[in-house]
Amino acid sequence: MSEPIAEITHRLEFAAAHRLESPDLSEAENRALFGPCFGLHGHNYQVEVTVKGPVPARSGMVMNLVGLRALMLSEIFEPCDHGFLNDAPLMAGRISTAENLAIAIWEKLAPMVSEQGTSRISRVRIFESSNGYADYYGPDSQ
Ligand code: NI
Repeated sequence: MSEPIAEITHRLEFAAAHRLESPDLSEAENRALFGPCFGLHGHNYQVEVTVKGPVPARSGMVMNLVGLRALMLSEIFEPCDHGFLNDAPLMAGRISTAENLAIAIWEKLAPMVSEQGTSRISRVRIFESSNGYADYYGPDSQ
């Protein structure tokens, strides 16, 4: 019998300032496109990283949650908490939307998770507030 497949999720919160601004647009165009989000403001971001994979009988784990948490602390929390997201190396070359943050986190963590075994990231979810979130399911999803 093949191993059952399951998903695990770890959630992390960090606080950061940001503003939505495209370098390709004028100030007036940025203001028109992003409205109040063009101004400096902050969020308590909630980041959820979900990892999917087989549950071997030997370990009973898709991936060690402590290991996933350690990656999220070192790669997301430490470089971003109480910082300015637009200047975070993680977000270099990207407008600091929740969608782009989800994509950046995927791209940063996916190779690290893959290194630890056969499980893979299946979703990154970013809450900017309790009312809405952005999901990224990876480059192979459409
Ligand atoms: Ni915002």
